[in-house]
Amino acid sequence: MKEQIIEIFKSVFHYDPDKTYFSPGRVNIIGGHTDYNGGSVLPFCINAGIYAAVSLREDNQVNVYSDNLSRKGIMTFSLENLSYDKDRDFANYVSGVLMELTVRKFDINRGFDICMVGNLPRGGGLSSSAALLILITKIVNDYFNLNIDGVRMALITKTVENMYIGVSCGIMDQFIIANGKKDHAIFLNANTLDYRYVPVDTTNHKLLLVNSNQTRKLTESKYNVRQQETQDALKIMRKHTDIKDLCDLSPEEYEANKIYLTDSMLRRRVLHLVTENVRVRAAKLALENSDFIALGKLLVEAHNSARDLYEISSEVLDDLVEMALASGSLGSKMIGGGFGGSTLNIVKADELDQFIKNFSESYREKYQLEPVINIFEPTDGVSEI
Ligand code: GLA
Repeated sequence: MKEQIIEIFKSVFHYDPDKTYFSPGRVNIIGGHTDYNGGSVLPFCINAGIYAAVSLREDNQVNVYSDNLSRKGIMTFSLENLSYDKDRDFANYVSGVLMELTVRKFDINRGFDICMVGNLPRGGGLSSSAALLILITKIVNDYFNLNIDGVRMALITKTVENMYIGVSCGIMDQFIIANGKKDHAIFLNANTLDYRYVPVDTTNHKLLLVNSNQTRKLTESKYNVRQQETQDALKIMRKHTDIKDLCDLSPEEYEANKIYLTDSMLRRRVLHLVTENVRVRAAKLALENSDFIALGKLLVEAHNSARDLYEISSEVLDDLVEMALASGSLGSKMIGGGFGGSTLNIVKADELDQFIKNFSESYREKYQLEPVINIFEPTDGVSEI
């Protein structure tokens, strides 16, 4: 991929690039929607993402080209004009980072030419947007010696998503892509930003992603609606408890106070968050002990909770989980924001072929299509390559 991105850069800009970078996608093992509710998450970076070749320019122009969206050609804007512009399309993720850095008084006085090519499965819900935001922040950080560490990078890019792009997301995706480590997941407390690396041993167990082929953009999904619902529930719970975030509630505290949530929909949302947060801690322990049987069970519980209580699954995702369990997976769940994207499946390494055979048969029968299955390894976060 490195050679390929250099060649693309040369053919688009007619000179050699200066540096090349890789920014990965991510999978969250467990911790669905807990991040913007002050809870914990357990994500890792995957060995697929966005490759970029870049060179600084002498002037203040920024030229952005994506080989995956080649029909859009080169998107151009100036450092003088960084406000959100609908016509700029995906290049808003680039101008958004530059805008936020400028607001934070970082001195960026030269533009750049950048070419990108991504190999994340389309519609997989593997956080291409956070990968792009972190990629640009890392590049600018390196060129202008801004000394922004991984934690701050995540905070800056989350602000861009929230304020500039308009998605009320939490910090998980940006955090893992800025700080990920090969062969490890991160156990992150999204409230304090304390984090710990947790080894993921994939020798005997494989992590498979199955793509639902249901593309959904967070901007268009019910993501912001869920965020609002939890804010409403928090307002009510704060009147009766001293919590700061919903995930501060223990299951016992939830039981003692749920009476105040008169809307049963809000009860379901909060019950998901409270139990999910407990599952994240249990999953961390299971991973530390390489207990994939326990982890698998937690994955299934998490999926059921996402489906029934947080109501963010879809018929296809539920089907994929069911088929995976019937095909011999130790555990399966939807990942990411929901309403589409992928499922994560744990499969014993020595049963991998049989699993793929069984699963593909069921899938073909149901959808008359070949399933899109990828096996990913936990990898490092964003880096120059
Ligand atoms: C998206 C968001 C994250 C997180 C997940 C759900 O990926 O960007 O912040 O909320 O959904 O767990």
